[in-house]
Amino acid sequence: MSKKPEDNVVKKMTESEVKYRRLFESAHDGILILDSETGQITDANPYLENLLGYTNKELLNKKLWEVGAFKNMKTSRDVFKIIQNKGFVRYEDLPLEAKNGRLIDVEFVSNSYVAGGVLVVQCNIRDITEHKRVDLIKETKRLLEEERIKVKSIADAIHEFRTPLAIIKGNADMVLKGRGKNKKSPTSAFKAIDYEIKHLSNILTDLSLITSQAWELKSRIAYEKINLKSLIAIVVKRGKALSYKKNISLTVGKIPNIIILGDKIYLEKMLLNLVKNSILYSHQNSHVKIDAKKSGHSIVINVTDNGIGISEEDLPHVFERFYRVDKFHRSGGNSIGLGLAIVKWIAEIHGGEVSAKSVKDGGSVFSVTLPIIKAPQDY
Ligand SMILES: Nc1ncnc2c1ncn2[C@@H]1O[C@H](COP(=O)(O)OP(=O)(O)OP(=O)(O)O)[C@@H](O)[C@H]1O
Ligand SMILES: [Mg+2]
Repeated sequence: MSKKPEDNVVKKMTESEVKYRRLFESAHDGILILDSETGQITDANPYLENLLGYTNKELLNKKLWEVGAFKNMKTSRDVFKIIQNKGFVRYEDLPLEAKNGRLIDVEFVSNSYVAGGVLVVQCNIRDITEHKRVDLIKETKRLLEEERIKVKSIADAIHEFRTPLAIIKGNADMVLKGRGKNKKSPTSAFKAIDYEIKHLSNILTDLSLITSQAWELKSRIAYEKINLKSLIAIVVKRGKALSYKKNISLTVGKIPNIIILGDKIYLEKMLLNLVKNSILYSHQNSHVKIDAKKSGHSIVINVTDNGIGISEEDLPHVFERFYRVDKFHRSGGNSIGLGLAIVKWIAEIHGGEVSAKSVKDGGSVFSVTLPIIKAPQDY
């Protein structure tokens, strides 16, 4: 006897129903089916029963807002209205109360669709407790690391203050209490004290820039259109006052004719810090060069030297506050290890970034990438 086509349809439907039922029963998400008219629960899968601690009987034929778990969701009725009107609702983080009173954080997604000619509402409920726990652990670790860096920075800053203060005290003592060879003339003591005070004041300026409050200065940055060529010309002019002492040639390569948007004072400080480093960490009679090239919508400014270079182990740390490769190299007492942290901060508040390549005893290239605004001819 041949089968009627309707038999096949019935068979296919039964097959897909069985498949759906299997998925429904074995799902690792809670699934709740509601009557779209009344909000009555018409089906709930075993996972949801387990999650909330209710039996199937306790859930079925109750309205969504009559079940303890959803009662606490004080907008349950409103939520249901939204689903009725929009056909969709999603909450990323909702606390549901299990039968035993335990609060479970869930993601709640609800859709309505037609099944067997009837409009039904399906709610998918995902337990996100573990997910949130992992996020919390990550966040706690991040905060602890931030705290550790802050404490270290404060300890380092205190240390940086000790040396100049000791020198000031020593000079004052040599004038006031010194005898014989230890007696110092007030003029030379004042000169030494004056030098150390300037150094202390530089440390304070740099420290105020890198403290977390300084990040709030972001809004006080005076953004203006700056011609890159003119900016670099000023930096080179100031840099030459430092390079001549070591007979280092400071040259400018090709600089594209572009405009950047930023704070002139900060950008000048950023480039000068790089030039200063290149001069400070290079030998007599060597070369330092600044050039720049366009890369998409950005400009990359390079400061290149053939100085003492930085080892592979030290290179990843040089942008950290107070990091100095050679802790004893005091470069005339003025090196505290904040210059590059400030360079990084300035580049970042301008929407840019910094990077460095270096070979020990072979020289370094420090690069700052900044966004370009428009070509000058566009103004
Ligand atoms: N061009 C360079 N060549 C070799 N080493 C460098 C160069 N630039 C930086 N360094 C190394 O990186 C360290 C950190 O540099 P950074 O500018 O942050 O601090 P600093 O120069 O020691 O002090 P300051 O706060 O006065 O700038 C330096 O102490 C130095 O060891
Ligand atoms: Mg420096």
